[in-house]
Amino acid sequence: MNRYLLPLSVLDKTVVLFLVLRDYVTSGACPSKATIPGKTVIVTGANTGIGKQTAMELARRGGRIILACRDMEKCEAAAKDIRRETLNHHVHARHLDLASLKSVREFASKIIEEEERLDVLVNNAAVMRCPHWTTEDGFEMQFGVNYLGHFLLTNLLLDKLKASAPSRVINLSSLAHVAGHMDFDDLNWQTRTYNTKAAYCQSKLAVVLFTKELSRRLQGSGVTANALHPGVARTELGRHTGMHSSTFSNFTLGPIFWLLVKSPQLAAQPSTYLAVAEELRGISGKYFDGLREKAPAPEAEDEEVARRLWAESARLVGLETSRGSSAGEQSLSR
Ligand SMILES: NC(=O)c1ccc[n+]([C@@H]2O[C@H](COP(=O)([O-])OP(=O)(O)OC[C@H]3O[C@@H](n4cnc5c(N)ncnc54)[C@H](OP(=O)(O)O)[C@@H]3O)[C@@H](O)[C@H]2O)c1
Repeated sequence: MNRYLLPLSVLDKTVVLFLVLRDYVTSGACPSKATIPGKTVIVTGANTGIGKQTAMELARRGGRIILACRDMEKCEAAAKDIRRETLNHHVHARHLDLASLKSVREFASKIIEEEERLDVLVNNAAVMRCPHWTTEDGFEMQFGVNYLGHFLLTNLLLDKLKASAPSRVINLSSLAHVAGHMDFDDLNWQTRTYNTKAAYCQSKLAVVLFTKELSRRLQGSGVTANALHPGVARTELGRHTGMHSSTFSNFTLGPIFWLLVKSPQLAAQPSTYLAVAEELRGISGKYFDGLREKAPAPEAEDEEVARRLWAESARLVGLETSRGSSAGEQSLSR
C-alpha cells in the first residue's frame, strides 16, 4: 500500500458513517429558483467534485462562470462538460494554483484586468489529510491551499467585488472545523508532530474565522461573506485518506457509503443557495450547515482569534509589505 494512504481508524469510520446518515436525513435541493444572467462567478477547484457541480448549477442559472483550477487539462475538460450540459457558452477555464502565492497573484491580476465585474467568489478548492507537504512558499499544504491561498485571493479581488456590489464571497469550510484549534505558535506545523487530521481541521476552522473577520471588515460595502459545510459527499477529497483502500471498507462500509453519501450534485446545493438566493441578500458572517444557518464551534466565534488570524495571515502572504501598491491591496489596510 502507498505509505501515504493510511487507513482510517474504526472510530474515524464510525464518525463518518454517523455524519453521512445525518446528512442523508437533512439534505435537499437549493430552494431558490433565482437566475443570475449578467453575473460573473469564480469557483475555485471546479474541475471535479462539489466545485464542478456548483459551477454546473450556476451555469444553468445563466451566469458567466470562471473555473479556477491548477490542472488546465482537467479544467478545460470540466468547462467543456459544463458548456455541453447547460448550453451556457460563458464558461471559462483559468489557471489557479492555490499552493503558490505567485499563481494566486497572477490569477487575480488577470481577473482584475479582464473581467468587468465579479459578483460571486466561491472559495471551494481544498486538499484533505495529505502527507506533510508544503506549498511553493513553504506553508503546510492544507493550511496553505484551503485557507491562506483563498485569503490572499479574496483580498486581491475585494475591490472588484465591491465595485460589483451587491456581491458575495462563499467559503467552503467543513463540520471538521469543530475539531480544529488555531495554534498561533505553530500555524504551519513546523515544530509540532504533523497530524494530517488536525491540520485539515485547523485549516477549516481558519476558513470560518476568516469569514467572520472578512464580514466584519466589509460591513456597509454591499459585499457579504458566509461559510458552509456542504455535507459528506462522494468526491475525490478522500484521495489521501485510504478510506476505501482496505478490504473491510470495500465490503462493509463501502456499499453503505455509496447508498447514503451525498452525490456531488446534492452537496453543491448549499454553495448554490448561498450564491443565488434573494432571501440571503445582506446576510453575512454566518455559517451554514447544508442549507441551514447554524452556530459554528465556539473558537470560530472568537473575534480576538479572528483578528489575530487575519493579522498573521496578512503577514504570511505579504499583504502588509505590498499595502498601497494596488487598489486590491489597499482594501486590506483597515
Ligand atoms: N466531500 C466532502 O465530503 C466534504 C465535506 C466537508 C467539506 N468539504 C469541502 O468541500 C470542498 C470541495 O471538496 P470536494 O469534496 O469536492 O473535493 P475534491 O473532489 O477533492 O475537489 C477538490 C478540488 O480542489 C482542487 N485543488 C486541490 N488543491 C488545489 C490547489 N493547490 N490549487 C487549486 N485547486 C486545488 C482540486 O484540484 P485537483 O483535481 O487538480 O486536485 C479539486 O478541483 C472542499 O473545500 C472541502 O473541504 C467536502
